[in-house]
Amino acid sequence: MATVLVAYGSSEGQTETVAERIVEVLETEGLDATLVDLKRRSGAFEPATVDSIVVGASIHAGSHQQYVADFVRDHRSTLNRCPSAFFSLSLSAASEDAEAQATADDLLEEFLEETGWNPDGTLAVAGALKYSEYGFFKRFVMRWIGGRASGDTDTSRDYEYTDWDEVESFARQFATLIRTDA
Ligand SMILES: Cc1cc2nc3c(=O)[nH]c(=O)nc-3n(C[C@H](O)[C@H](O)[C@H](O)COP(=O)(O)O)c2cc1C
Repeated sequence: MATVLVAYGSSEGQTETVAERIVEVLETEGLDATLVDLKRRSGAFEPATVDSIVVGASIHAGSHQQYVADFVRDHRSTLNRCPSAFFSLSLSAASEDAEAQATADDLLEEFLEETGWNPDGTLAVAGALKYSEYGFFKRFVMRWIGGRASGDTDTSRDYEYTDWDEVESFARQFATLIRTDA
């Protein structure tokens, strides 16, 4: 059975939820998928031992988690050699404004350029506004940012914008690529 590492960085949990869904789809497609939280990982796993790799991160203040970029840089040759894919969560990708969506794509490309990685597949996907998980200051800032991006400013609830069909289709396409490559 082909093995897939699904490694992610997540600050408020939405990228983790997306990574979990990707693992579920890959397993349904008959692959042996392992989920790794890059923030909490011990040094005990070695990407070079798996057949393929999916990496996910989210955008905060215009960039992806530094520890995810470090992971990609550290394992760039492995990532560029095996089937690989990258997904990026943001509020920009949730916007109906074409310029904001283009920003999500640009930041994704910037991440790849800075890390020197050429994945086979990419996805800029809408994230979430989790007011319930933000402290006072972050909630205040996000109410302003969220108001501009989506108009959702009711801080007594959370908002999820992720298009799950898009996520599942991304995972299925990657499973097809792995099978073709095997
Ligand atoms: C403090 C903060 C800053 C953010 N900055 C950006 C940003 O610059 N651009 C953007 O598109 N989304 C931004 N977002 C939205 C996040 O990318 C979105 O909430 C995403 O779902 C977070 O994923 P995570 O829960 O896996 O960390 C920001 C969110 C927070 C809380």
